[in-house]
Amino acid sequence: MTHAAYQGAHPTGEQTLPPTVAVLLAAGKSTRMRSRLPKPLHPLCGLPVTAHVVRACWEAGVERVVVVVGHEAERVRAGLVEATPEGCSLEFVHQERPLGTGDAVRAAQSLLESWPHTVLVLAGDTPLLRPPTLRRLVEARVQAHVPVAMLTMELQNPTGYGRIIRDEKGHVIGIVEERDATPEQRRCRECNPSIYAFDGPRLWKALAQLRPNNAQGEYYLTDVIGWFVQQGAPVETVAIEDPNEALGINTRVELAQAAALLRARLLENLMLSGVTVVDPMSTWVDVDVTVGQDSVIQPNTLLLRGTQVGEECVLGPFARIEGCRLGNRVQVYASWLADSVLEDDVRVGPYAQIRPNSHLGAGVRIGNFVELKNAMLGPRAQASHLSYLGDAEIGEGTNIGAGTITCNYDGFQKHRTQIGPRAFVGSHSTLVAPVEIGEGAFIAAGSVITANVPADALAIARSHQIVKEGWAADYRRRKAGKGEQKNTSK
Ligand code: UD1
Ligand code: MG
Repeated sequence: MTHAAYQGAHPTGEQTLPPTVAVLLAAGKSTRMRSRLPKPLHPLCGLPVTAHVVRACWEAGVERVVVVVGHEAERVRAGLVEATPEGCSLEFVHQERPLGTGDAVRAAQSLLESWPHTVLVLAGDTPLLRPPTLRRLVEARVQAHVPVAMLTMELQNPTGYGRIIRDEKGHVIGIVEERDATPEQRRCRECNPSIYAFDGPRLWKALAQLRPNNAQGEYYLTDVIGWFVQQGAPVETVAIEDPNEALGINTRVELAQAAALLRARLLENLMLSGVTVVDPMSTWVDVDVTVGQDSVIQPNTLLLRGTQVGEECVLGPFARIEGCRLGNRVQVYASWLADSVLEDDVRVGPYAQIRPNSHLGAGVRIGNFVELKNAMLGPRAQASHLSYLGDAEIGEGTNIGAGTITCNYDGFQKHRTQIGPRAFVGSHSTLVAPVEIGEGAFIAAGSVITANVPADALAIARSHQIVKEGWAADYRRRKAGKGEQKNTSK
């Protein structure tokens, strides 16, 4: 496992965590999501829900992450592996049937039984957790020498969460699920975020005692807490400062709430690092998006899937930029861009579409209603209006006139158009690929180019213009002579 390499890459890598492994529960049926897509894979700011929890564990310094899968196991496994940063290997164990959270943890026992230190157990549906919170929890258990430390939180509206029950002295005596709670217990607002640090050997012993004596007939992990207390072992609690961190996603309403909170957090980080976000309410950024200092994000702009933006850029209003790399001083107005590279000082839009595998050299200008796909444009090349440039290579400083189209598809295959540097393609030209236009060549406006054009040549490929002097006046006279109605509108 190359986990150490990943640790070094994150800002908290210097802080060491007492030896810890993590078990993530992601085998449930996600009934309340009412979705064909399993809950762990629902996208949230560019990552599947459970991948956020996986990352929080790695960033906290956990040594192994074991994910318990069951419902749609293969799909969940593939989705999480794909979303996990390079250098972190995930392990998966299978829970045969969804018999409850306690049973789910038991599925990891054979893998982790010999681990003598802390086992962190987390629900896979709490994606807002922060690594420092996990570290605090693990440290609290180790320092207090207790079999379990658990996070707790106070909620204004605790509906749906397990409640933490304490005795008169304030010691935890157990957790009661909402379905099993008395009306009085339901009024309690101290809730269980479902994040625990256990002493490994004592966890497995406790799980063996679980019985499904509850409203759902499930093996509840929460019952382990009560069992420890009955055995006379104290339970340590660590209050979460920001209860939003433990928001559990059970419905799509909570998914949207989590997205709003995470988005606010990501935007706040950008703003504090020197980026102007004109309207945070209408701006979306995914995790792993980076934006350089003094860039300005205008309203209704989305920066998605690992997009990297340089300094002093202006993005939006109304831009959607996905999987792209932008240099410095790039301006993108009201346009869609995907999986492309824009070097310094490029200007795009409004109303342009840059489709995948395009590369725009420094100072390129792409104007309104221009579509690019798999197109390489050299520095300062321009296509300012109404063009389609697909599977094309366009040299430095070349000007593409309004309405130019590369005909890259013959109904069966795609073909390339190559245009050298400093060429001039007149407006409304049709370039039938495969075709090459040499350096400095001129294409007359309205040409249909079907053969290569050498460097510095002029190509005219349109019918000759015929001018018949006086023809229009004659025509009108002839028609008037026959008594036909004259159209006087101009
Ligand atoms: C659980 C806790 C509750 C807590 C809440 C916090 C229990 C019994 N209840 O309730 O006290 O307040 O989380 O969000 O633990 N899972 C499995 N296998 C199963 C069942 C569940 O892997 O057999 C997984 C789910 O995929 C999910 C996690 O465990 O990721 C929690 O399950 P969920 O059904 O969401 O539990 P809650 O009702 O939210
Ligand atoms: Mg839940």
